[in-house]
Amino acid sequence: MGANKKNGKKIGIMTGGGDAPGLNGILEASCKTLHGLGYEVLGIEDGFEGIFEGRFRPILPKDILYVHSQAGTFLGTSNRCGTAGRESEFLEKYSSLGLSGLIAAGGDGTFAGLKPFEKTIPMIGVPKTIDNDLPGTEVTFGYDTACSVVARSVDALRATAYAHKRVIIVETMGRTAGWIALGGGLASYSDVILIPERPFDREKLVEFIRHKHHQGQRGFMVVVSEGAHARGEDIRVAFQVPGSPESKRLGGIAEVMARWIEKEVGWESRHVVLGHLQRSEHPTTTDRFLTLAMGVEVARMVDENAWGQAVVYRQGQVKRAPVCELMTGARLVDHEHRWIKLANALGIFI
Ligand code: F6P
Repeated sequence: MGANKKNGKKIGIMTGGGDAPGLNGILEASCKTLHGLGYEVLGIEDGFEGIFEGRFRPILPKDILYVHSQAGTFLGTSNRCGTAGRESEFLEKYSSLGLSGLIAAGGDGTFAGLKPFEKTIPMIGVPKTIDNDLPGTEVTFGYDTACSVVARSVDALRATAYAHKRVIIVETMGRTAGWIALGGGLASYSDVILIPERPFDREKLVEFIRHKHHQGQRGFMVVVSEGAHARGEDIRVAFQVPGSPESKRLGGIAEVMARWIEKEVGWESRHVVLGHLQRSEHPTTTDRFLTLAMGVEVARMVDENAWGQAVVYRQGQVKRAPVCELMTGARLVDHEHRWIKLANALGIFI
């Protein structure tokens, strides 16, 4: 384990896409292990932007000391920059770094951006997103932290909902996947959970809320994913981010629903959009364990030249799988998922 054992071997590491609690854990665990194995590590700043703009710096042991507990990523990230149309420029700039390989922690945008280089750049993928919708892995880090923000928020908001006899609609992130709303809504025993994978029936929903109101329930909690929509209706796009690999930003459904429920049911309603708070908390212990184990495994993969692989979580263990398995489209909530059945058993409208 001498510091010079891998003399001359320099590994690049980057974090891309929207940040997720746990990214700093991946950086600390993988870089610490790589340093211990004698590798030099070059940190690329702000995802693909750092490669295009030549922004990078060596990661030294002092840089990563105890960063694991912080949300964000100390390397910076970006979800505005892909590689489409700039492939040869990307390859040229990447090649000039003289790296033996690249560790890329990212989501669908990052892996879509790396897909053209799957055979040319030795890479190791680390799946990351609070949305939990990456294929090839059963869970992504950051998801547990996001769910805990949702659950704690619903629990807290329930107090004011019951004090004022109100409906409160809580909007979560997640894009076209309902994992965050489902996990956070279940953990907080919400009355209603609306996810994009299950377009809701307006009439049935109104009937359900009206019934609770007539029964004398004081407060009522709805968790709605930003991508949820009524049957036959479209997802709400809040705005577009030009240049972003996924340019549409979703949002706005909670406010619209609050006005609609108030009108249809006559029950005073308010809404809360949790937004980026879901990405900003210190990672939970579950996410810390996951990133610690994944980070160490990534360094071992580098040392074993396991390029073209990704670190994934399957059947309760951190494993390896071909990186192309992270590049096959979003992993959505299955209609038969056991959590849907749990919600049904609790009498939650889903
Ligand atoms: O993909 C992660 C995510 O947080 C989504 O849940 C959300 O829709 C989107 O990113 C928000 O992006 P931005 O940070 O650009 O607002």
